[in-house]
Amino acid sequence: MYQSKIAGIGHYVPPIVVDNNELSNFMDTSDEWVQERTGIKERRYGQKFEQTTTTMGAEAAKAACENAGISPSEVDFIIFATLSPDYYFPGCGVLLQRELGITNQEVGALDIRNQCSGFIYGLSIADQFVKTGMYKNVLLVGAEMHSMGIDFSTRGRDVSVIFGDGAGAVVLQPTQEEGKGILTTKLHSDGTYAEKLAMINPGSHGNYHFKKMGEPKDYDYPDTKYGEVFMTQKMMDTGAQYPNMEGRFVFKMAVQKFPEVIMEALNSLKLTPADIDILVPHQANLRISQFVQKVMKLRDDQVVNNIQKYGNTTAASIPIALSEAVQDGRVKEGSLVCLAAFGSGFTWGSALIRW
Ligand SMILES: CC(C)(COP(=O)(O)OP(=O)(O)OC[C@H]1O[C@@H](n2cnc3c(N)ncnc32)[C@H](O)[C@@H]1OP(=O)(O)O)[C@@H](O)C(=O)NCCC(=O)NCCS
Repeated sequence: MYQSKIAGIGHYVPPIVVDNNELSNFMDTSDEWVQERTGIKERRYGQKFEQTTTTMGAEAAKAACENAGISPSEVDFIIFATLSPDYYFPGCGVLLQRELGITNQEVGALDIRNQCSGFIYGLSIADQFVKTGMYKNVLLVGAEMHSMGIDFSTRGRDVSVIFGDGAGAVVLQPTQEEGKGILTTKLHSDGTYAEKLAMINPGSHGNYHFKKMGEPKDYDYPDTKYGEVFMTQKMMDTGAQYPNMEGRFVFKMAVQKFPEVIMEALNSLKLTPADIDILVPHQANLRISQFVQKVMKLRDDQVVNNIQKYGNTTAASIPIALSEAVQDGRVKEGSLVCLAAFGSGFTWGSALIRW
């Protein structure tokens, strides 16, 4: 068995900067409200019709390959994590393969849908492939172009102010250096709360889950017609195609699960929070990260926060933050890096990496 290490990392954020004041032109919100509740000052949006989740992912992937000293043609497996894919199907993995000019059909491409914990799930999958010697250069990308599908009216303001676009990527390679690389990953889920943070339409559910919960939605489904369930006119008229979130509930779960899953990873290696050199939490909300920092008794310099600049970029948030921390020297050779995420599903997870 090998160990797997992050051999290269890179990120890409699109050039359009949208601050909170600009959003208040479309919806009833304010810079003060957004900063006070989330810490977010501004976020980036991709150039519509010119960029996509895949193309931003490709920029990050190229940077990660360059950083690893490989050409994209040497990648032997692709994992793409996103909740805002270019297409419903096929996934962004194959689109990325094409975008990077990888014509080798020996390469597999896998899309994963674990939202905010997508990067950690992807890291764990990549780790298993690399450890067993099956692949030598696994490209893992987390990318989102939320701006194309969020509600910019006051109705959607609780969600829309939070999310931003961007991409991050890593290349995983085997190493035989003792104690180096990915030390452990911990993954969890609880589908009880699937609808608390979700985009449920378009979809094939046909109200099934809501009827079961005793809260059927009025989507005005045509009586018995198949083929008209994914998206009805009423869904469009009522904004039911947009993501929805019970913010307070998500907040409460997040502040419980982040410390729990970080401690689980540390305990499994007989380490303590004091051993962490850098914690890179999923950038969900600055208040969540500050709460986690406080309960884990971590210093400011132990925690990476960049949500102020980018908002919540879901599957891209950890690799963007980690990439910035590597670039500015906060992550060094030998650093103990802890990654942790919580989000829609609910799914959550953590990873410990000796850099
Ligand atoms: C979304 C979140 C910032 C909302 O903050 P909150 O303090 O819980 O606010 P509430 O949802 O209770 O809403 C309070 C009021 O602000 C209003 N509001 C919601 N979004 C607003 C916005 N963008 N601007 C101004 N007012 C807003 C609400 O309508 C509500 O008004 P009311 O009291 O008149 O009904 C917060 O719940 C949160 O961060 N949750 C976690 C979200 C998260 O991390 N998601 C990603 C997980 S990966």
